Amino acid sequence: MSVWLKSAVFYEIYPNSFMDSDGDGYGDFKGITSRLDHIKSLGANAIWLNPHYRSPFMDGGYDISDYFKVSERFGTEADFDEFINTAHAKGIKVILDLVPGHTSEQNPDFLRSAENTRNDMYDRFIWTNGEWDFPQGYRAVAGRHNRKGNYIVNFFSTQPALNYGFNEVTDPSWQMSYKSESALKTREWLKSVMRFWLDRGADGFRVDMADSLVKNDGDRDEKPATSEIWRDIRKMLDEEYPDAVIVSEWSSPQSIRAGFHADFMLDHHGNPYNLLVRAEECGKHSYFDKNGGGDAAAIADGFTKWYDAVKNNGYIALISCNHDTPRLAPYYTEDQLKLIYTTLFTLPGVPFVYYGDEIGMKYVKDMPSVECGFARTGTRTPMQWNTDKNAGFSSADTTFLPADVDKRINVAAQEKDKKSLLNFLRGFFQFRRSRKEFTDTDLEFLYAKGSEPLVYRRGGLTVAVNPLAVKQTAPVALRPKAKAVFAVGKEAKPSKDGIVVPPMSLTVFE
Ligand code: GLC
Repeated sequence: MSVWLKSAVFYEIYPNSFMDSDGDGYGDFKGITSRLDHIKSLGANAIWLNPHYRSPFMDGGYDISDYFKVSERFGTEADFDEFINTAHAKGIKVILDLVPGHTSEQNPDFLRSAENTRNDMYDRFIWTNGEWDFPQGYRAVAGRHNRKGNYIVNFFSTQPALNYGFNEVTDPSWQMSYKSESALKTREWLKSVMRFWLDRGADGFRVDMADSLVKNDGDRDEKPATSEIWRDIRKMLDEEYPDAVIVSEWSSPQSIRAGFHADFMLDHHGNPYNLLVRAEECGKHSYFDKNGGGDAAAIADGFTKWYDAVKNNGYIALISCNHDTPRLAPYYTEDQLKLIYTTLFTLPGVPFVYYGDEIGMKYVKDMPSVECGFARTGTRTPMQWNTDKNAGFSSADTTFLPADVDKRINVAAQEKDKKSLLNFLRGFFQFRRSRKEFTDTDLEFLYAKGSEPLVYRRGGLTVAVNPLAVKQTAPVALRPKAKAVFAVGKEAKPSKDGIVVPPMSLTVFE
């Protein structure tokens, strides 16, 4: 098991939007390389890079037309290598995005598969038998190619599903078993993609829609055949690339059983992450709603179950946000963001900070969709470095997306302000690094009820957080000599009735 993951703090970079070095309006590898010190200064020691491959960008690069080439948009092959090598020289690992489930409709393998003749790619994708077949429960695209059949898509219509086969074959006229020779060939092709980038220096992958490979494979918490494939791939990694890690977009303890090293707890309705910060989406109150209505008991219960199911074999990956999810600002204030980040990252898991969240960049509402980002577009605006043109992201007149008009939030300004979110987070990650309890010890919730203070223990450390705008007391007795070693807002104090936690604060006691 890769040892570095345990103490990793990741920074997610959407390459279009991070730093444009050549003034063409798109971010690029050279731009990222030039800003590695910023990432390092935050206390991050790993990067997750969103897709960097050749792509027509019909889904932000998650539609790959060449898995073995970088997108010219982001620079040359040499620029990519320089980025990886410089990151490594600075002690920063880099994981790439792996998109195993579907290609671009412009991928030559797919175009070959779409020819109306049996060839080496005929079964690489999933096609129905006839051009008038629209099997129920699948999304089939018709009338775009001369092959007699319709192709099944994994996500958008531009993203044909690769054929890893079916677990339950309900119609053998067009479905193949996941053990069929064609399905096994797709799996071997995927391994060749992974080997190619690992040989090139990548430290692993964030795996897109990892649970989507085999069709008719049960629900997200089961997926036996898909899991079998990933266990096979994990075996390959353990034998050939023992330091490489795979982090899944799966959001279920099943991911770790399938051999992933870590799995994102995504914003799915009712899970602990959703209940902490995003429950409004399903008509509830988040725990961090300062006016109350949260459900700490459900959070503690859900988190404990998930954590207990994975803790001996892998990690939960906890995110400030990602490229698919609205940023937490402006829904929360900067003071609340400090509380939220410290809560997330003192729970057991691998922290992931989405670029710009370290300065509180906002979700830009009502942004017209670009490259099929739709509502996600407002989360992908250029990184705000300073108050120059395009917030210092680019010298171009037109950029991939316009920078947020609110120029106050930027790195340069926060560098100078000791109390800024950026400097706060640097201090927090330094503290987190200094305490092995956060990476080496179990979790125990000591108090979790409604919107009352949430109190949990990591080894000899106790964390007490109060999300409300009023002081609250948690009926928890601290050890007699407990002292505060880190606080957000005013420090909590032990009393005869329990821990008195000031409004909107978090304290770590030793
Ligand atoms: C994942 C990605 C998302 C993409 C989709 C299809 O959910 O995070 O951005 O659109 O998969 O690849």
